[in-house]
Amino acid sequence: MEITTFEFAVRGDERGSLVAIEERRDIPFVTRRVYYIFGTQPGVTRGLHAHRQLQQVMVCLHGRCRLLLDDGQDKREVLMERNDRGVLIDKMIWHQMDEFSPECVLLVLADDYYDESDYIRDYEEYQTLATAARGEEG
Ligand code: TYD
Repeated sequence: MEITTFEFAVRGDERGSLVAIEERRDIPFVTRRVYYIFGTQPGVTRGLHAHRQLQQVMVCLHGRCRLLLDDGQDKREVLMERNDRGVLIDKMIWHQMDEFSPECVLLVLADDYYDESDYIRDYEEYQTLATAARGEEG
């Protein structure tokens, strides 16, 4: 399973640093929703779902955490600790975030509005759907 990352240019000068993320240039989609996760309590695991259609790019703005990506066949682990790198969470990728440092701030850019019906929260259901989707592709 390939992990797709996006490297963002850091525009720094003597005042400090700035990163700009432009839709369809720095990430492959138009962002319809932005959310961020912070104040995560010790030992917490978030995510634990996949999306039927939604594409997202996650950036760790501060601190660190672990992102686990699972396409139904392979699992990959990404250490999220850079604010100049986005990681694609594609549609139909099961994901979880854990091992948050107390100060961790995760920024997420999403290509659509929040829609509970787009979530797959049951891992067995996810595997069934992912297997079927692979069959259609192959
Ligand atoms: P949840 O999906 O549980 O977060 P995570 O994937 O990180 O575990 O979302 C937490 C709450 O926030 C839940 O009540 C749904 C709500 N929510 C929105 O209203 N809009 C959003 O864009 C997101 C991501 C969540």
